Parts: sequence; C-alpha cells; structure tokens
Amino acid sequence: MLAPTQVTVLDAITYSGNPANLAPVRDDPRLRFVHGDIRQPDLIDEVVPGHDVIVHFAAESHVDRSIAGATPFVTTNVLGTQTLLDAALRHGVRRFVHISTDEVYGSIAEGSWTEQWPLAPNSPYSASKAGSDLLALAFHRTHGLDVVVTRCSNNYGPYQYPEKVVPLFVTNLLDGGTVPLYGDGGNVRDWLHVHDHCRGIALVQQRGRAGEIYHIGGGTELTNKELTAQLLEACGAGWDRVVPVADRKGHDRRYSLDITKIKTELGYVPSIPLDTGLADTVRWYRDHRSWWEPLKAVPAR
Ligand SMILES: NC(=O)c1ccc[n+]([C@@H]2O[C@H](COP(=O)([O-])OP(=O)(O)OC[C@H]3O[C@@H](n4cnc5c(N)ncnc54)[C@H](O)[C@@H]3O)[C@@H](O)[C@H]2O)c1
Repeated sequence: MLAPTQVTVLDAITYSGNPANLAPVRDDPRLRFVHGDIRQPDLIDEVVPGHDVIVHFAAESHVDRSIAGATPFVTTNVLGTQTLLDAALRHGVRRFVHISTDEVYGSIAEGSWTEQWPLAPNSPYSASKAGSDLLALAFHRTHGLDVVVTRCSNNYGPYQYPEKVVPLFVTNLLDGGTVPLYGDGGNVRDWLHVHDHCRGIALVQQRGRAGEIYHIGGGTELTNKELTAQLLEACGAGWDRVVPVADRKGHDRRYSLDITKIKTELGYVPSIPLDTGLADTVRWYRDHRSWWEPLKAVPAR
C-alpha cells in the first residue's frame, strides 16, 4: 500500500469538513494540514510545488444541497478542479487522481455501467461532478497530464458527516428519533465501505493507466427500504421510527457499477461485507458520540 514520505491535506473546512477527522494521524510528522480553498489559485500555486501526486477528493457532495442551490457545486467541483489541474500542469505533478461518483451516469434500470457508458447526470451535484471528470480527462488528452479518474458507489463508514443516509439514520436512531425515508423506499444503491474505497483509490494511484477511468464498488445493492431495515435492526429499533417523506426531486432510481476493469487490471475486490461493515459502523457511531453530537447540535450551514 501507499507509503508516502509527506502528505499535505488541503481542506476548506466547509460545513462537512472537520479537523477532528484527522485526530488519528494528527501527530504524524509526515502530515501537514493547510486550511485552504481549491478555488484560490494563488494559494494552490503556493501549496502544489514539491508534490508528486494529487488525490483530489474536495467537493460539494450532497445532492439535496445541490437541489437547494447549485452555485457552490459549480464553483468548487468544476472551477476548483480546473484550478487544481492548472496547478498540477504548471508545477509538474506526476499523477492526478480525480475522485468521482457513479452518479455521473444518471440512473440504470437493469444491468451495470461500464467505464465507457455515456454520462447523463440528473442532479446539479452529479452534473458538476461530470463536468469535473471531463475537465480532468481533457487535461490528459490535451496537455498529457497523467490523470486517472475513479468513480465509486455510495460510501459508508466512520467520520461521515451526518447528512448522508447511513450516519443520519444511525445517529437519529441512537438519539431515539425518527428517520426520513424518501418516496416508496425502492431506490437502489450499491454500498461501499470507505476503507474499500480508499484501497481502490490507492491501487489506481499506484498502477492505474493514465487517462483511464476505474469504477470502485462494494458489491452489495440494496433498496433504501432494505438498508433501513438493516439499520433499524442494528440499532434495535422498529419501523415505527420511520417517517415516509416526499421523494427527492429528480431522484435517480438505481445506480450500478460494473467493477470488472479494476478487478482484472488491478486486483481490487471489496473486502468488507455489508453486514459486518454496517455493524462496525453502527458501533463506531455508538462509541463516538463526542464526534457527532456537536455536528447535530448546530444547524448545518
Ligand atoms: N460520500 C459518498 O458516498 C461519495 C460517493 C461517490 C463519490 N464521492 C466523492 O468523494 C469525494 C469526497 O466526498 P465526501 O462524501 O467525503 O464529501 P464531504 O462533503 O463529506 O466532504 C467534502 C470535503 O471537501 C472539503 N471541501 C469542500 N469544498 C472545498 C473547497 N472549495 N476547497 C477545499 N476543500 C473543500 C470539505 O471541507 C470536506 O472536508 C467527493 O469528491 C465526492 O464527490 C463521495
């Protein structure tokens, strides 16, 4: 796996960013934290020299927020990515790993998307990520920048901001509250433990081919209703705690990634089965109230 000599984490600490997430590595002398915004070209120009790899995670990432207002999605996800790509090119960065999402393909009723599938995003979030993917690939084709793009399915695990469904439901249930279930609960997602996602990204960073896209999936598709049932059981709660709510506008019905390419080329297989991953995740939120309680106490900006 990766053994970098130095890692710089650059993060704007938006509502979903949290310096406490770096607690397990805070004292590692190889870590440098820069509080900064990828939309600031001058700052990015100062930070990038001397780095040989950029792994670009920073984004506005929550679909519901993009429906309420798309501006930060376009400025961070599209313009911010372009700022980083420009800096990578200018300063001779050896490899640029762009982290993206299965949502760029839209919705698929049957079968699974391969990396060649046309993009058809439906939300302002996924449209802005599609824009950033295309820019990243264009920097490879036009300028020869060594770019690789990853597209993953729905992540879950520790340290996830409690607006995403798994930590939202788990923390609501642990607090004795209710959980909102969109529409008929039949929307299907593939679930990927964050550790498997990071393993996949590391493989792509090390051995992925320049200019290529790699899917990273978890291998377990569930309807939101099935996911809710698992979370209720793990938290010892019943269906009386579930409140049906109006469906999300433009809600994609099903996402499904074909992960044959990363399996055959790079030997990736998801290693954390969903039932054990969810049980560990629920345990983590049970044991880390001090991490999430302050986040739920203040209305998110
Ligand atoms: N969470 C998922 O299920 C999922 C699925 C597919 C792809 N992704 C992708 O993975 C990446 C990370 O997603 P996440 O769920 O951790 O998102 P998140 O919203 O939880 O975290 C985003 C991080 O980016 C930082 N950030 C936002 N705008 C910034 C800016 N302008 N400059 C610098 N930092 C900024 C935030 O402070 C925060 O730390 C994103 O690119 C997202 O599109 C996530």
